[in-house]
Amino acid sequence: MKKFSLTDLFRKKPKPTLGVDIGSHTIKVVEFSGGSKKVVKKVGRALLPQGAIVDGSIKDKEVVQEALHKLISNLQPSLKRVSTSISGYSVIVKKIHVPYLGEKEIEENLIVEAEKYVPFEISDVYIDFSVLSTHEDGDGGSDIFLVAAKKEVVDEYANLLEGVGLTPSVIDVDAFTLVNAFELAFGKVEEPAVLIDIGASKTNLNIVRKGMPIFTRDMTIGGEQLTEAIQEATGLSRDDAEAVKIAGTKDNVLAKEISDVVVEMAGLWINEIKKAISFFKTSATPEDFPTCVFLSGGTSMLLGLEEQFSSGLGLESRRLNAFNGNKADKDIDREYLASVAPQMAIASGLAIRSAE
Ligand SMILES: Nc1ncnc2c1ncn2[C@@H]1O[C@H](COP(=O)(O)OP(=O)(O)OP(=O)(O)O)[C@@H](O)[C@H]1O
Ligand SMILES: [Mg+2]
Repeated sequence: MKKFSLTDLFRKKPKPTLGVDIGSHTIKVVEFSGGSKKVVKKVGRALLPQGAIVDGSIKDKEVVQEALHKLISNLQPSLKRVSTSISGYSVIVKKIHVPYLGEKEIEENLIVEAEKYVPFEISDVYIDFSVLSTHEDGDGGSDIFLVAAKKEVVDEYANLLEGVGLTPSVIDVDAFTLVNAFELAFGKVEEPAVLIDIGASKTNLNIVRKGMPIFTRDMTIGGEQLTEAIQEATGLSRDDAEAVKIAGTKDNVLAKEISDVVVEMAGLWINEIKKAISFFKTSATPEDFPTCVFLSGGTSMLLGLEEQFSSGLGLESRRLNAFNGNKADKDIDREYLASVAPQMAIASGLAIRSAE
C-alpha cells in the first residue's frame, strides 16, 4: 500500500469555515474567501426575540432555527462547514497548571485533571485544552486553558446548524474566538491588550499577549440591561427604548435623559472591568499589564463609549474592526461593513478557523 497520496493530502488540508455567532440578541454570519489573503465574501445578521436564547442555552429552537434559516437563505454563503462558539454557565474556561509536558501527555491525563475543576459530571461534558506555556526547567509541567462544555448544549447548537443544512465543524468558546478576531485585524501584537466584547446579555473580557489569551472572564453586563434602564427612566416600551438607544432621537429632552442613563450604566460597567483588570494584575508580571483596550460586540457601538472607557479605565480604548486591512467583495457596502464591524468580531474570529 502506498504511504501517502496527493488526494489524501488534499483531503487532510484544513478547509475554510463559515463563521456563525449565535448571540442572545443577534445571529451574526461572516464568510471569508479561503487562502492567505482574506476577502470578506458575506456578512449578515438576524435579530432574535427576547427569551429565545437564555444564558447560552437555546430555549426556543424553532424561532432560532427559522431566523438562522432566513439569514442563510438571504446570504447564500458558499461554505457549508461552520465554526460556531458557545458561552454561558454550561461552558468552563479555566487556566490551570498540570504536572505534564507535551500535548500527548496532557491529553492522556486530561480527564483526571478536569475532574478537579469541572463542577459537572465528566461524562456530561466535552473537554479540551490549549497549552499556554511549558516549564521544562524548575518544577516542570505546563499552564493550560482547560475548556469543558456540557454535551447537551454543544449538541443543541450542532443540531440547530444541521437543521438548516449546515455542518458544524468547530465549536469554540467566545474567549478564544475574540483573540482570533484581534489577530485577524492586527496580526500578532506584542503589547498586551484588553479585548472586551459587550453583547446583549453578557460581556467577555480577555487579556491577550503575543496572540495568546492570558486571562479571561465572563461578566453579566450588556445592552439588554441598558435597554431596561432606559425603559425605567423614560417610561418608554421595551421596543421603543431599544430603538432610541440604537438610533437616538430628535427629542432633545429625551435624548438627554437617555444619554444620562448610558453614562451612568457605562460607569458601572467600567467599575466591573477595572476590578477584573486589577484582579489579573495581582498575579501577573508588569510586562503582561495591558496598555490598551479594544471594544467589540453590538453594545460597543454606543456613541461616546470609547471616550468614556478611555478616561474611566485610564487605557486608550478603541472599537475593534476585525475587517481592518482585509478586502471585501465589491457588492458589500463599505459603510455598512464599517458600521457593523465591531458587532461582527466573534463571527469574524470564527470565520478564519479552518476545519479538517
Ligand atoms: N448601534 C448600536 N448602538 C448601541 N447598541 C447597539 C447598537 N447596535 C446593537 N446594539 C445592542 O447590542 C446588543 C447586541 O449585540 P451583540 O450582537 O454583540 O449581542 P449578542 O451576541 O446577540 O448577545 P450575547 O453575546 O450577550 O448573547 C443589543 O443589546 C443591541 O441593543
Ligand atoms: Mg455575543
